Amino acid sequence: MSKDLRHYLWQFKGQNLLLAVILFVQALMVTFNGIANANALTALVAARFTTFGGWVGAMTVSFGIFCLGMYLQTYQYSRCQQLMDTAIRRDVAQRLSQTSYQTYHSQSPAVYASWLTNDVTTINQMGFSNVMDVVTQVFTVSMAVIALAGYHYSLVLVTIVLAVVMYLVPRLFNKPIQTRALAMTHANERLMNRLSDILSGFDVLNLLNLRRLLVTRTTAASQDTAHYINRWQHMNGISNGVINGVSVVCQNLVLLLTGFLVWRHLVPIGTVSASINFAGTVFAGLTGIMMSLTDMQAVIPIFTKFKAVPLPPLTGRQAVTQFQRAMQMQSVSFSYTPAEGLILQDFTLTLEKGKKYALIGPSGSGKSTVLNLLVGNLTDYTGTITWDGMDYRHITPASLVGQVTYLDQTPFMFNDTLENNITMGEPYPADAVTAVLQRTGLTDLVASLPAGLTTMVEKDGHNLSGGQKQRVVLARGLLQGRAIVFMDESTAALDAASAQAIEQMIVTDPALTVVMVTHHLRAEIAARMDQIIESKTFRKAANK
Ligand SMILES: Nc1ncnc2c1ncn2[C@@H]1O[C@H](COP(=O)(O)OP(=O)(O)O)[C@@H](O)[C@H]1O
Ligand SMILES: [Mg+2]
Repeated sequence: MSKDLRHYLWQFKGQNLLLAVILFVQALMVTFNGIANANALTALVAARFTTFGGWVGAMTVSFGIFCLGMYLQTYQYSRCQQLMDTAIRRDVAQRLSQTSYQTYHSQSPAVYASWLTNDVTTINQMGFSNVMDVVTQVFTVSMAVIALAGYHYSLVLVTIVLAVVMYLVPRLFNKPIQTRALAMTHANERLMNRLSDILSGFDVLNLLNLRRLLVTRTTAASQDTAHYINRWQHMNGISNGVINGVSVVCQNLVLLLTGFLVWRHLVPIGTVSASINFAGTVFAGLTGIMMSLTDMQAVIPIFTKFKAVPLPPLTGRQAVTQFQRAMQMQSVSFSYTPAEGLILQDFTLTLEKGKKYALIGPSGSGKSTVLNLLVGNLTDYTGTITWDGMDYRHITPASLVGQVTYLDQTPFMFNDTLENNITMGEPYPADAVTAVLQRTGLTDLVASLPAGLTTMVEKDGHNLSGGQKQRVVLARGLLQGRAIVFMDESTAALDAASAQAIEQMIVTDPALTVVMVTHHLRAEIAARMDQIIESKTFRKAANK
């Protein structure tokens, strides 16, 4: 069994043990039923009718207990499964929350969504559900073997030899099933990616009069995934067929042996019923166990995939304190991929507290990259970046990010109240919120809303203008005491008046240190800047 499945089963051992106890009682009832059945037949053949009736009564009672157990089993299984699902999702989320910014962005959110939904479902169906089946079968099979031993030792010997055969055969299929299961999970990720891509593009398709692409692309994506699921089930099907075939042959061999024993008067006639029943149980059980173990192979590559999300070595442990003097980049060089070449080469920059900087230059020249280096999102650079003299390599990334408000063109709004979008649910004193609203020019907006701060912000902030959203994000940062503002072309999509108003508000706030990336530097704003940095200075070669 997969090490990871065991890990999660063990994590909730109390609940899982309770489930195992229920399964044990179930198996006991099934076995008892088989024995009672054989005894009833023997009693009937011997014309002892009262005994016969007694056994039938016992069968009825044991079956009643079995039915009660079915209810308990279903409910308890669900409880265990949901506990383990949540634990898996939490662990994956934990990894994603700790991995580097760059690694996180190497895959789309749709892929992660597929991990947390499709893959968890696969783990349930192929993993936990099969573990429960195996446990049930192990109980039933062991009890059936013990019962067979009660009739004649030779029955057990033959059964054990055949069981070994049954164990070995399906191992032939493990490797190809694992490989195909992995291909299937990747196909599921692609499906999620493509579906979310096409569904997000609805507005564009609408304007292009290409809504039909929604259908054709969904179908094509579905067909691609179907292919890989079918390939996997194809191999599963072969494996199941072979296992069942071997099982039936084994059962019949035991039946032959029983017939022989009855014929030689070594066992009573009821043994035929017991043998058919218990040999059936043993081999059907073994078949079930083998099929379950084969199915379980599918979860191994999924856990391996989850664990491939690298956890970066703990970088700095020092937390930065309130910004005092300056952030500096000294001889910093950086590239995303070797093939792409250097974006920054020996680049040096000093940002002093309270000053305003503009970063201008053509698209693709590395302006956003500079901002991402300064907030600590990108770490694979050479040279030194410092915060009040502290080397970034000694600083915890979280403490750094906590000092900066990063405004871009698509400010993210939560589908929550306006107040919670600003406070993020933290309890701030009312006058602190009022002051921040004033400072970010949101007071009039709030006053004009019938529900004021408790107005719900719609999904993606549809009921706010672009400028209002920028102000909300700024207010959020100011309330958290963030005195550095990075504007990454944040006003580019706004109308001139709103853009101007927001830029003016930010660059005239003496408490803020501002870096404004823009390709449209208005004269009034330029006049307020302490320094204008052109992106052509990023690389030495470009400088020459
Ligand atoms: N995550 C990334 N992976 C690889 N290349 C990237 C990544 N982000 C940006 N780039 C590349 O780095 C260069 C600089 O990008 P960027 O800093 O976004 O430029 P700007 O903000 O000036 O438009 C571009 O050539 C861009 O394609
Ligand atoms: Mg950019």
